[in-house]
Amino acid sequence: MKGIILSGGHGTRLLPLTKMTSKQLLPVYNRPMVYYPLNTLLKAGIKEILFVIAPDHAGNYLNLLGSGKEFGARFTYEIQDEPRGLAEAFIIAESFLDNGPVTMILGDNIFEDDFSEAIKGFKSGGRVFAKEVSDPKRFGVVEFDENKKAISIEEKPQNPKSNFAIPGLYIYDKRVVDFAKEVSPSQRGEIEITEIHKRYLALGELDVQIVRGEWVDAGTFDSLLSANQLAKERLASKMII
Ligand code: TTP
Repeated sequence: MKGIILSGGHGTRLLPLTKMTSKQLLPVYNRPMVYYPLNTLLKAGIKEILFVIAPDHAGNYLNLLGSGKEFGARFTYEIQDEPRGLAEAFIIAESFLDNGPVTMILGDNIFEDDFSEAIKGFKSGGRVFAKEVSDPKRFGVVEFDENKKAISIEEKPQNPKSNFAIPGLYIYDKRVVDFAKEVSPSQRGEIEITEIHKRYLALGELDVQIVRGEWVDAGTFDSLLSANQLAKERLASKMII
């Protein structure tokens, strides 16, 4: 299993902080933000990791992370010229993935859970996660039937059908690259990851597991503050990097 850390984007909601560096390099308690998703992948045994980064501040990633040797891993970097959506990362990563499965994590998503079992036990299809939140409109939202089976997925719905958001960690088999190529850009001009989830759901091959521990998407000032708190109180002492 290879990993992608998606660490591009504009980070406009954190301006002016993101004028001087990339959002995912901002401090979260005592580490750069990107260390948290990196820790999640390394803990699950993923050693070959591609960082998809924006052209601005790209050099800072090399300075911080280098070859990966220091982390017992191998790091590769690709530039995403424009933030054309999360699912574009799979197309950018095509040669890196070399027809294999992938776990992609967002560079601003911080998890308390250990995903080792979910990643090591993955065989085929797609596996995403769900977490009950108070503000589902900000996220992809998954609806379950009475047997806890996923029945619909919507991107940032006005009227969410449930409170279950899909956090930024996705496990897909090799077909994800071709599926991403088939997605047309949405109204906001992005190749939406939700379209990939929906594709696997329609095939009856999407497994949705519940996230038990804390999860923070650190993209706003308030959630960045929560991320700092979570890191200090629960995560810092358990990090392997
Ligand atoms: P977002 O938080 O949705 O976007 P953003 O980081 O550009 O922030 P803002 O909305 O404040 O301008 O992105 C989620 C994650 O995905 C984040 O880690 C950035 C990354 N990303 C990319 O790498 N490429 C993209 O094309 C997009 C849309 C996001």
